[in-house]
Amino acid sequence: MTRERPVLVFDSGIGGLTVLRELRVMMPARRFVYVADDAAFPYGDWEETALKEHIVRLFDRLIRTYDPHLAVIACNTASTLVMPDLRARFPLPFVGTVPAIKPAAERSRSGLISVLATPGTVKREYTRELIRDFARHCHVRLVGSARLATMAELHLRGGSLDMDELKSEIAECFVEKDGRHTDIVALACTHYPFLANAFRKIAPWPVDWLDPAEAIARRALDLLPNDASELPTTPDLAIFTSGNVSHETASLVHGFGLSAREDGRAPSRSD
Ligand code: DGL
Repeated sequence: MTRERPVLVFDSGIGGLTVLRELRVMMPARRFVYVADDAAFPYGDWEETALKEHIVRLFDRLIRTYDPHLAVIACNTASTLVMPDLRARFPLPFVGTVPAIKPAAERSRSGLISVLATPGTVKREYTRELIRDFARHCHVRLVGSARLATMAELHLRGGSLDMDELKSEIAECFVEKDGRHTDIVALACTHYPFLANAFRKIAPWPVDWLDPAEAIARRALDLLPNDASELPTTPDLAIFTSGNVSHETASLVHGFGLSAREDGRAPSRSD
């Protein structure tokens, strides 16, 4: 019984799939519902109060519909804003995704780290607090890109990447100071690990591109009971709040073992 209650994985778009793939590896017998709030994408430039209210309202419906065992907010832009509200309002465990500033500061040898995120995450007080609490001894460069999440969305659906544009979006991450160089870039938007191979090719020097997905999956595993031994009998779903599932989107999520639905109400044409 408990086993069939899904783990809900949430993002504004397809970025949370980078977290879902790690969750799958760690808990193959769990059932998953992936929710992409693509009607509201991108979250990166939303005003904070409006975004908070929007997400809490959406979760009211999602929790009533799917009754998840646990929810993973696989989105930095949302997690750095709305975790206290979600935890206060809904009686289930929530796992958030926040910029990996602590591990980056612990691992950096040069003391120069960068955080590549959306403009929203860069502006958050929560992100500033992480720097104050864990990276005082480092020089932290915050880089907010308004384009990369959209580029990842298009690329994953078969679009080509404009390498010059990509290069200019990440250029600010690379800092040279007193003969030292940035050695770690925290990927603080779940869309960005999909672009990491391209980043590696165009980076002016090699850096460690830190993807927190595995750590998030481990945290979720710790919070779930150890009762999932048989494979789930219900298919895993991907819900799109826009109500618009293109053939490219359906085949993308199919590759992640998900069956696409338009906002959980009607089966999509491509199912
Ligand atoms: N994937 C989301 C994150 O981790 C953000 C994308 C967006 O701007 O909506 O922040």
